Amino acid sequence: MNRILVWGWPVRIGHWLLAGAFVLAWLTGDSETWRLVHVWAGGTVVGVVLFRLLWGLVGTRYARFTSFVRGPGAVKAYLLGLFTQPRVEQHGHNPAGGWAIVALLALGLLTGLSGWLTYQEISGEWFEELHETLASTMLAVVLLHLVGVLTGSLAHGENLVRAMFTGMKRGDADAAIAGARPLAIPLLLACAATCAWWLAR
Ligand code: HEM
Repeated sequence: MNRILVWGWPVRIGHWLLAGAFVLAWLTGDSETWRLVHVWAGGTVVGVVLFRLLWGLVGTRYARFTSFVRGPGAVKAYLLGLFTQPRVEQHGHNPAGGWAIVALLALGLLTGLSGWLTYQEISGEWFEELHETLASTMLAVVLLHLVGVLTGSLAHGENLVRAMFTGMKRGDADAAIAGARPLAIPLLLACAATCAWWLAR
């Protein structure tokens, strides 16, 4: 079968920027010395998520929320049939992974905003505790996400991590996205940089 483009540049660059910024923010969270790096990394997470929310509405085929946010029935059927049903081509996100992605985007936004409120010293300890709880929850979902990626790779016989770098998966030509959308890259980077700068003021 052919290899076709399913993830454009905005999804791939956005993903690795989000992953890198989250890890950096996590590693620098407890340090006074690295506070500004932490705030910039957290701001980058928020900027990438805001861009991704927009891209989920107007982006390429498999990037749209309508293509991967599915009801509980579809998630249950997918999980139950994971290793028993014949392999089904999964060009976009699978129904279970789709919900992990929604959770990661929501947690990225809420963790960033609670961090900003903590940074502004608006409400003492309260926002700080909320911020730490949200960050730990996000880390737990990231670990779950990694287990899901590994399981999905085995179940579908497709290296999903490589696909998140190259944008390519197995499939018929008519399932490919129309283009890699390089013109959206500056918008993504501007969104990340503006949020990082604004939240760190
Ligand atoms: C560290 C924090 C991470 C966060 C917050 C995160 C978040 C996300 C999000 C939001 C998506 C959806 C991408 C989109 O549709 O735009 C996604 C997909 C994906 N992520 Fe991550 N990710 C992280 C780490 C990783 C790592 C370390 C790997 C691999 C080693 C990875 C592999 C993947 C893959 C393969 C997909 C696509 C899954 C599929 O084909 O359905 N992620 N991730």
